[in-house]
Parts: sequence; C-alpha cells; structure tokens
Amino acid sequence: MRPVTIAMPKGRLFAPLVELFSRAGLFDLGPEVDLERRLTVKTADGRWELLLVKPADVPIYVEYGAADLGVAGKDVLLEARRELCELYDLGVGRCRLIMAVPEDSPIRKATDLIPGSRVATKFPRLAQEYFSSHGIQVDIVKLNGSIELAPKAGLASAIVDITETGRTLAQNQLRIVEEIMSVSARLICNRISYKVRYPLIQELVRGLQAVEVSKR
Ligand code: PRP
Repeated sequence: MRPVTIAMPKGRLFAPLVELFSRAGLFDLGPEVDLERRLTVKTADGRWELLLVKPADVPIYVEYGAADLGVAGKDVLLEARRELCELYDLGVGRCRLIMAVPEDSPIRKATDLIPGSRVATKFPRLAQEYFSSHGIQVDIVKLNGSIELAPKAGLASAIVDITETGRTLAQNQLRIVEEIMSVSARLICNRISYKVRYPLIQELVRGLQAVEVSKR
C-alpha cells in the first residue's frame, strides 16, 4: 500500500512538528535528511511520506487529495476556507492574531482607525471580517510576508498579523492594540482519505494523544 502523505508546513513550525511526530513514535526520518532542500521525505518504515510545502498551500494539497493529511495553523485554515476535516489540535505553533500600530500612533483600539485607513496583512479575509464585524471600514492591503515593515514604509497605518514571541513587533516599534484570536497548529484531512486510510490515521492521532497525556 502507498504511504499516507502528510503536507507539512516549511518554516518555523516544521522542526517542532517533526519532534512531536517522532515522540509519538511514528516518524523516523533518518539522521542525514537535508530537510532544507527536500520537498518529500519518506519515513524509514515507508508508511508515511511528508510533502514539504509553504504553510498557506497545505490546505490546498489536502483539499485536492494530493495529500491525505496536513498540518496548518488555525489562522491559515480560517483564511483558506477549504472543505477539510480538522482532526486534532496539535498544541504546537501557539501564537496570536493581532492588530498592531506604530508605538507613536494615537490609535489605542481598532475603532480609532480613520475610515479608509490601510491595514496590511497576510490574512485579508480574517482581517476584513474582523473590521466589518466592528463596523470599521478599512482598506485591506494583502502582503505575503514582512508585514511589520508596512507601517514603517508608509504603506499602512496598521497591520493584522500573527505574533509568537513579540520580538518582530518590538524590533519594528509596533504596539498591539487588539487581539483577534489565539492560534495553534491543527492536523487536517480530506474526507476520502479519512475513510480510505482510517487505520493509519487513527494510529497517528492515538500516538499524538499519548504524547499529550504523557506531558500532563
Ligand atoms: C511571522 C509573523 C511575524 C513573525 C512573528 O512571520 O508574520 O512576522 O512571525 O513572530 P515573533 O512574534 O516571534 O517575532 P514569519 O516568520 O512566518 O515570516 P514572514 O514575515 O515571511 O511571514
């Protein structure tokens, strides 16, 4: 039988995920894998294959069935709005989706924004929903990264982005004014894979649950 494929996000989440999956006793990627360059990695037992993709592409791979499973942040999932089943909160990649402004800005809360203000973000849907639900009319500017640069460069008055340690905000003299939601990484699946590969998927979820229990 072919391996179960898991779309894994490259970047900051990848190392903690490999560690978590290894502790669940499921993955042995072997010692010499150059994960920086590889796009696919099979586990030593041949039962799992990781597809290493950009975080925002994970839901796409899973929805189209190009991957059986995937790991994506709740922020990415809500933004993508794809037909997917969320199987498990992995509890890693915990961060917050926030609105921030320059430290010297007079803005203290979202409703202080002047109507039509530009807000830069990687999450245009989530940001738009947030401001609309508060009756604030803004001009959302979609960027693909380095969001914290936008206010400094005069592109936007505020940003909506994720923050984990807060270092990037501090380094760019930005101040949080609103917390929009808490975020963590989720294991996701498409409906067909869930049925067809159920035994192995169950094994994975049980292994992950056992790691969580052992931490208590
Ligand atoms: C994310 C996020 C912030 C940064 C926050 O960016 O968009 O820029 O991490 O982390 P911190 O609070 O720990 O400093 P990422 O590193 O994913 O890169 P990007 O700027 O290319 O999106």
